[in-house]
Amino acid sequence: MTQNTTQTQMTVVVTGASGRTGSRVAEAARAAGLTVRAASRAQGFDWEDPTTWAQALRGADAAYLMYPSDVGSPEAAEGVGALAREAVGLGVRRLVLLSARGEDQALPTEEALKASGADWTIVRATWFSQNFSEGPLVEGMVGGELVFPAGEVKEPFVDVRDIADVVVAVLTSGDRYAGRTLELTGPRLLSWREAVTEISGASGRTIAYTPVPTRAYGEALAGFGIPPEEVELLIGIFETLMDGRNAHVTDDVREVLGREPRDFADFAREAAAAGKWKA
Ligand SMILES: NC(=O)c1ccc[n+]([C@@H]2O[C@H](COP(=O)([O-])OP(=O)(O)OC[C@H]3O[C@@H](n4cnc5c(N)ncnc54)[C@H](OP(=O)(O)O)[C@@H]3O)[C@@H](O)[C@H]2O)c1
Repeated sequence: MTQNTTQTQMTVVVTGASGRTGSRVAEAARAAGLTVRAASRAQGFDWEDPTTWAQALRGADAAYLMYPSDVGSPEAAEGVGALAREAVGLGVRRLVLLSARGEDQALPTEEALKASGADWTIVRATWFSQNFSEGPLVEGMVGGELVFPAGEVKEPFVDVRDIADVVVAVLTSGDRYAGRTLELTGPRLLSWREAVTEISGASGRTIAYTPVPTRAYGEALAGFGIPPEEVELLIGIFETLMDGRNAHVTDDVREVLGREPRDFADFAREAAAAGKWKA
């Protein structure tokens, strides 16, 4: 793909287009003039059914790959590898994978992408700011208490809109970021307690943060019917990610976008104004 064919003629397949990152990638790609082909189950694309992949990929130029649930699962390594090989076979060589920063469990998925022969870029994101406003943690936040196994570790939460902007900048920059692994963070370190305190301030509600041991958290998940092997995977991932390895910011958002990443305070204010934490 040359730089000239990118902006106006590029068709990008966006997996997880109804999810947190995919919806923003689709929006940012359209705003940049790309043609977006949404690929989640509503469009007949299923990660668990390889016979549905070709119709989503055929004739496209690039794809944004996010594996549902977790990029560190063994299924992700298998699925991303197989889909990437099929994409390359169909001529869709430019692949951008959403991975997780500091997550050792995600390395086999990244390796599977690299081995596919694609022109790959890996975007390793740190914890999303939007984990507090969209997805499984919202119930606790709205209920006034977030119970989570993060202790007092610090994290530079990243806004998913910055992830989307980076993905689109990568796609529209020709080969500049091919073969690169980017690590995306927000501009500021916060503990979960400090993040919840900022949200309390922005929303005008009192929301408590209660740290719990990782295994106790996993057992609670098992009580909600999550299968034991998934619980073990999540416990391993939480233990890995909460050991302090991610307690530093990176410069990659600024390198790619030429601006500072969005601050957590802006996220908290905007999400509060949108009523995300209304009781
Ligand atoms: N949360 C974090 O802080 C964080 C940080 C770094 C990396 N990550 C990685 O981010 C990824 C999750 O991304 P996200 O938060 O943007 O997703 P998300 O909001 O959890 O949404 C999941 C998306 O996947 C689609 N989906 C679910 N099952 C599917 C299937 N079998 N086939 C096809 N599509 C399916 C859903 O659409 P339908 O239900 O409509 O099909 C939805 O669009 C994971 O790999 C995770 O490891 C997360």
